[in-house]
Amino acid sequence: MDYKQIIAEDLSNQLKEHLSLNEIYQLLEQPKNTDHGDLAFPTFQLAKAFRKNPVEIAGDIAKDFSSDLVTELKQAGPYLNFYLDKEKVSASILQELLTEKSNFGQSEIGEYKKVAIDMSSPNIAKPMSMGHLRSTVIGNSLANIVAKRGYQPVKINHLGDWGTQFGRLITAYKLWGDEEKVRANPIKELNELYIYFHEQLDEKPELEEQGREWFRKLEDGDQEATELWRWFREESLKEFNKVYERLGISFDSTNGEAFFNDKMDEVIDLLKEKELLVEDQSAQVVLLEDYDLQPALIMKQDGATLYITRDLAAALYRRREYDFEEALYVVGQDQILHFRQLKAVLDKMEYDWQEDIHHIIFGLISIDGAKMSTRRGKVVLLEDVLDEAVERALGQINEKNPTLENKEQVAEQVGVGAVVFHDLQHDRRNDFNFNLDDIVQFEGETGPYVQYTRARALSILERADFNTSAFKTDASYALTDDYSWEIIKLIQSFDRVLERAHREYEPSIIAKHALQLAQAFNRFYSNVRVLDEGPEKESRLALVYSVALMLEEDLRILGVEAPDEM
Ligand code: ARG
Repeated sequence: MDYKQIIAEDLSNQLKEHLSLNEIYQLLEQPKNTDHGDLAFPTFQLAKAFRKNPVEIAGDIAKDFSSDLVTELKQAGPYLNFYLDKEKVSASILQELLTEKSNFGQSEIGEYKKVAIDMSSPNIAKPMSMGHLRSTVIGNSLANIVAKRGYQPVKINHLGDWGTQFGRLITAYKLWGDEEKVRANPIKELNELYIYFHEQLDEKPELEEQGREWFRKLEDGDQEATELWRWFREESLKEFNKVYERLGISFDSTNGEAFFNDKMDEVIDLLKEKELLVEDQSAQVVLLEDYDLQPALIMKQDGATLYITRDLAAALYRRREYDFEEALYVVGQDQILHFRQLKAVLDKMEYDWQEDIHHIIFGLISIDGAKMSTRRGKVVLLEDVLDEAVERALGQINEKNPTLENKEQVAEQVGVGAVVFHDLQHDRRNDFNFNLDDIVQFEGETGPYVQYTRARALSILERADFNTSAFKTDASYALTDDYSWEIIKLIQSFDRVLERAHREYEPSIIAKHALQLAQAFNRFYSNVRVLDEGPEKESRLALVYSVALMLEEDLRILGVEAPDEM
């Protein structure tokens, strides 16, 4: 039930000659101050059509307005303030949530069309950075959001597994590498070899040529080069998978850059056919001055293709393979130029679907200043960050609930959940630095606080011997107190929250919904005697259960687990 929609329809009876239903809907606002009712409608926009001043218009509308859902309508100057029938609205919302459970808010609007989401996409033989973590969790949450809107997400891990750096890496491995060491600790070893190669370059400039030679061999399919490359890739992927497993994230495709090697000719041919390739210092470029952009470098003098060439091939491939409604690229803001160029080249190729490509940028994050960043030769793996968070979660559990049975498992859910939630709770464009001690806290605006609130709701139900599976979905659970009403309104806003999270590609909107609901619930719990006997007790318990369900769904969308006890 969308009460805003219903009020809009009721208003439309009087206003349809002047405003469309959708316009009325958009004008209805939720007043910040609850003294102004549950919905407010401003009349300024109607002044012209009615040739009256807004205050008079508001008075006219109020006189003739009627709605089953409104118990009181007050005029405040040019505004109309609607007070909803709390009993009716709460009964209908709770009934809906309790019946649909995790399906609550599921929309069909996307008609199962595909949304391709390029996410995570770390580089082989290098540690996964905090940026890749952000891309992973933001991408995953966006996938859950669009799925909830009725689209079909396609999660793509566009691995950075091709490029001239692999020629340098093979050179370094051939000169100084140790197979055993690489097997034992692949990413760390390979990354160090790569760094060492660059350190040696000053003294031995001939290394550059060797690197180029090995990359040429790799591109020509030389057996030794290919085997080494494949081995590096596999070992790296194994380590990345450890992180993905802990995050509970999987992909629909792990076609990385190398996958597009044999699809380059098509791109080059198309560009030639459309007469877009221009020679510039013996390289092939597409000029983009019409877009106020530097030329896109498509092919080097020696025939080597580039990052953007592979992205062009990938875009064409995805378009064909998925016929996507939208293609999202969850990649840091340092690649803004790259994606502008990509879209501009596609536009020059006259592919109008480039408009459906969106670069989902995000800000930089760091932990404890530089502590967790990758220093020269000394790699701090993302796994260590997660381990430290889990350790702190275990500390909190030992303090608060020492007899908890499956402590280790819950600590993992809470620690990892804290990192993921924190990553998603801010506007994704913001840069931020954080400290693990602050975010693995059961109080404050944290993931563990949301998890804890839900666990608390479940424990209240248990104390009341409330059987959630034998729950009567046909009963009418009406509540009219202000604390319940705040909760009802938040649950009721879920559809709009999802719609906005999708429109703005912003998981933080979901995280904020979870935090607000958790806060509203804790206010409710400290002000309302939930377990007191009386006619409303069943309804209050139904509300408690509803909060648990709603928080669980918010967390699921964010990719955060919800332990029943903690
Ligand atoms: N591997 C790249 C990096 O780490 C990110 C790739 C993003 N996806 C893409 N289709 N370009 O910077």
